[in-house]
Amino acid sequence: MIDATTRQMIIAPSLLAAKFSRLATETARASESGAPWLHLDIMDGHFVPNISFGPAVVKSIRPFTKMVFDVHLMCSKPDILLDPFAKAGADRMTVHVELGQQVEPLIWKIRSLGKQVGLAINPPTAMASLEPFLERVDSLLIMTVNPGFGGQEFITECLTKIQQAAAWREKRGCKYRIAVDGGIHNATASSCAAAGADTFISGTGLFAHRNLRAAVAKMQKIVEKSAASGAA
Ligand code: DX5
Ligand code: ZN
Repeated sequence: MIDATTRQMIIAPSLLAAKFSRLATETARASESGAPWLHLDIMDGHFVPNISFGPAVVKSIRPFTKMVFDVHLMCSKPDILLDPFAKAGADRMTVHVELGQQVEPLIWKIRSLGKQVGLAINPPTAMASLEPFLERVDSLLIMTVNPGFGGQEFITECLTKIQQAAAWREKRGCKYRIAVDGGIHNATASSCAAAGADTFISGTGLFAHRNLRAAVAKMQKIVEKSAASGAA
């Protein structure tokens, strides 16, 4: 059985915090950092009060790295975007559980496109809304800020959600990863790892560092240590 001591800890820099004026260079910098995933925040100006970038931008940066493209759709109608993002080079696509009736067909469609499925939950949303989908997703993304902007402060109350996700995973023998997103820097990543998270999405916590490779390595070391002590 995979437990916190054997599960690979994944650090995923979020491109939202990169310099948009030179995305190709920033993508290459992320690639050279050694982080396996690049997190791509898609905001539609409706589900969240901000707009980021779309499939054309994702397609344009795809040649600059072999990293897993982890597309986080903060969008009211992601169904119209799944095909375009799949074609643009997404490897994983995460949709929000707040979309209610849309979730079931979205999971099905992401799967049918041959992509990994993620399900995200906002801080105010009850964890029970995730329960019907636990057996069918590759990752749960616990938002640790209200989505829409980088650089916000981590909401400590979300730690209990990570613990709940980890408890379900163990009890039901599920295989999903537990990702955290928002306000993740070394200290908060450590708390999340101890609570059961294994995937750490970080924008300003990583891209603010001139030496991204060193920042990723440091966070990796910290979460591995905290996961091991949290599991002990
Ligand atoms: C927030 C996004 C996050 C964002 C995190 O709505 O989903 O992925 O990039 O940014 P930081 O790490 O700066 O809080
Ligand atoms: Zn995100």
